[in-house]
Amino acid sequence: MHHELIHYTEVSSTNLLLKELCRQGAPEGCVILADRQTEGRGRLGRSFFSPEGGLYFSLLLRPASLDFSATLLTTAAAVAMAESIDALFPGETPTAVKWVNDLYRSGKKVCGILAEGMTDGQTSAIILGLGVNLCPPPEGFPEELRDKAGALYPALSPDELATLRLSLCQAFLSRFDRLFEALPDTAFMERYRKRMFLTGRQVSYVKAGLRHFVTVLGVDDDGGLLIEEKGQKNKLTAGEVSLEL
Ligand code: BTN
Repeated sequence: MHHELIHYTEVSSTNLLLKELCRQGAPEGCVILADRQTEGRGRLGRSFFSPEGGLYFSLLLRPASLDFSATLLTTAAAVAMAESIDALFPGETPTAVKWVNDLYRSGKKVCGILAEGMTDGQTSAIILGLGVNLCPPPEGFPEELRDKAGALYPALSPDELATLRLSLCQAFLSRFDRLFEALPDTAFMERYRKRMFLTGRQVSYVKAGLRHFVTVLGVDDDGGLLIEEKGQKNKLTAGEVSLEL
């Protein structure tokens, strides 16, 4: 896939901007990259804290047909980014995946992924957005994120940041392209499973206002979370789970 990279110092949200370009007919492979976002979007309607110190980018996909689960785009992105992070920033522990597509290093979230679908009735497109904390903002993460959010480096100079942003983005794109072009082949899900730290753990999720406590059995080839609840096996196809101790 050919990639045209458009770089901004600051944008509202790379996903929002790419949606606009998509409406204007931008081709598949177009990437918007920003040093910071003022209205970073997260999953489940949340905002995504996007200060200087991170890599924020969105990739435009125009799959000819969706003969695979859309979740696979985000699990493929999780594998491609986890492998790129480990290749460029060797750490004490490999990057781990929390279903569906949060990436963790040393127990802290370092990357979030948000895929948003668009259609104009005839063609459909997917905006795949990734945010990676390369280093913490100078004033540190805000209080409410301090326990959860982490970064790949304790500090980076502006020059180092600029170089790492580009090399991580390019490393991701070349890995992701290979996985995307092979779809519906899901052989890469084995690489996802190896990084999944929820397997065998107790988690909970909320459905219709009720919290369910379940054991994670694994992830299937469509990216669904296989769970067991009171002796009964089930599958979650979307949403969020919380780790229970
Ligand atoms: C999450 O963890 O909830 C997903 C966060 C996804 C953030 C990225 S940053 C680049 C792209 N633009 C956005 O506004 N959001 C995504």
